[in-house]
Amino acid sequence: MKLNFLFIFIVLFIIVIASCEPNMPSKGSSSVDTKETAKTANELYTTHCVTCHGADGAMGMSGAKNLQDSKLENSEIIKQITHGKGMMSGFEGKMTAEEIEKVATYIVTLRK
Ligand code: HEC
Repeated sequence: MKLNFLFIFIVLFIIVIASCEPNMPSKGSSSVDTKETAKTANELYTTHCVTCHGADGAMGMSGAKNLQDSKLENSEIIKQITHGKGMMSGFEGKMTAEEIEKVATYIVTLRK
C-alpha cells in the first residue's frame, strides 16, 4: 500500500516536471531576437524595469520617474527606453526594437 502511494507520487512528480519543460527559456543563447526568447510585455517589464520602477510603475528607485504619472507620448517613451536618460540606461542591444515597443505599450497601461 505504501509503495503504491510512493509510485503514484513519483509519476505525478515526473508529469509536473515534464509539463514545465517546454516553457523553460532557452539558456546559452546570446541573441535577443530569436523566437525562443520571445517574451510578453509583462515579462519584459519584470525583467528589465521592475528593479527601478516597481511592478506598479510607482516605486521610484534610484530617482526613477513614476510611470503612473508619466505623460510621455509613445514615440518619446520608445526613445527613452532605447537610449536611456539620467540614471536610466538605454536598452538598445538588450531588447529588440519590437520588444521595446511592446514594453512601451505596456507601461502606458500602468497609468492611473
Ligand atoms: C536603473 C534604474 C532604471 C531602470 C532599470 C529603468 N528605469 Fe526608467 N527611469 C529611471 C530613471 C532614473 C528615470 C528618470 C530619468 C530622468 O528623467 O532623469 C526613468 C524614467 C523613465 C521614463 C520616463 C517617464 C517620464 O514621464 O519622464 C520611462 C517611460 C521609463 N523610465 C521607462 C522604463 C522602462 C520601460 C524600463 C524597462 C525597459 C525602465 N524604465 C527601466 C530608472 C530606471
